[in-house]
Amino acid sequence: MTAGADGEFTGKVVLVIGGGRGIGAAVAEDFARRGAEVVVADTDRLPSAYNHYRSTAVTGYAEAHELAGKLTAEGLSVTAAEADATDEDAIRRLYRGIADGPGRLDTVVNAFGVTHVSTVEQMELAEFRHVVSGNLDGVFLSSRAALPLLRAGGGGSIVNFSSVSGRTGFAKVSHYCAAKFGVIGFTAALALEVAKENIRVNAVCPGMVRSHMWRYLLSEFARPGETEDECWERMRAMIPQREFQTPEDIAGLVRYLASAPRVTGQAVSVNGGMTTP
Ligand SMILES: NC(=O)c1ccc[n+]([C@@H]2O[C@H](COP(=O)([O-])OP(=O)(O)OC[C@H]3O[C@@H](n4cnc5c(N)ncnc54)[C@H](O)[C@@H]3O)[C@@H](O)[C@H]2O)c1
Repeated sequence: MTAGADGEFTGKVVLVIGGGRGIGAAVAEDFARRGAEVVVADTDRLPSAYNHYRSTAVTGYAEAHELAGKLTAEGLSVTAAEADATDEDAIRRLYRGIADGPGRLDTVVNAFGVTHVSTVEQMELAEFRHVVSGNLDGVFLSSRAALPLLRAGGGGSIVNFSSVSGRTGFAKVSHYCAAKFGVIGFTAALALEVAKENIRVNAVCPGMVRSHMWRYLLSEFARPGETEDECWERMRAMIPQREFQTPEDIAGLVRYLASAPRVTGQAVSVNGGMTTP
């Protein structure tokens, strides 16, 4: 696909929060390649308690910066911004920057999220709170801040990230399930509040995408003596289609939701059949 001034999102401004890597990065690139002016927000400043991914550092903003540089060099319109979605002031600054910069907003994608593995019995209250707040607070803060800008442009779209874990329970991620079920409830309620204003609010529910987040989960779910590849194969067997979803699969759905004029209040799964209605 080529960049161009005649893409289907030309003239549109899209904000992707949590777009430094993983699924969010694919979403940002997808919109940029279709002509949108994209702001990719992410953070390097998550408190260490948020860094459950066993990496040496959380480098979301550094990766957002790198992505913006790579896509800008191709002639696309992408800028990086530092913002922790759970920080009210940071979200306020982020949206003020969009109002003062591009001056309009058409689509917001809340693609950030954190996870952690523990049984309920062994879970600390701080761990429960950090996963619930890391997945939900930002959805509230970002959606609230987006509304005046979307309204000023005559409407727009918010796409929140839930999960297959927002559709059914999984052992050892009760806090993550609680948060992702919560994202769906929040999405449905907000959609009704703003439906008459041409602002649409939907959620996507990925199943299993081989991102940084899943590599952490794999390290927790691997059985003693099991190699990473063997563990991946055991996970694949949980998917009826026997294929992991790709970041591009999810980006395709986000793009659809950003432009489907009559779709609002929905939570749509891309999970290879892991859940059915
Ligand atoms: N990977 C999967 O299989 C899967 C499945 C279901 C749902 N999801 C959801 O999809 C979304 C993206 O997941 P991913 O797999 O790409 O994860 P990832 O860990 O690879 O990427 C998440 C990005 O979000 C950023 N981020 C996290 N908290 C943030 C915050 N408070 N403020 C700003 N940025 C923040 C991180 O720095 C990172 O760049 C998440 O909401 C996740 O829960 C993922």
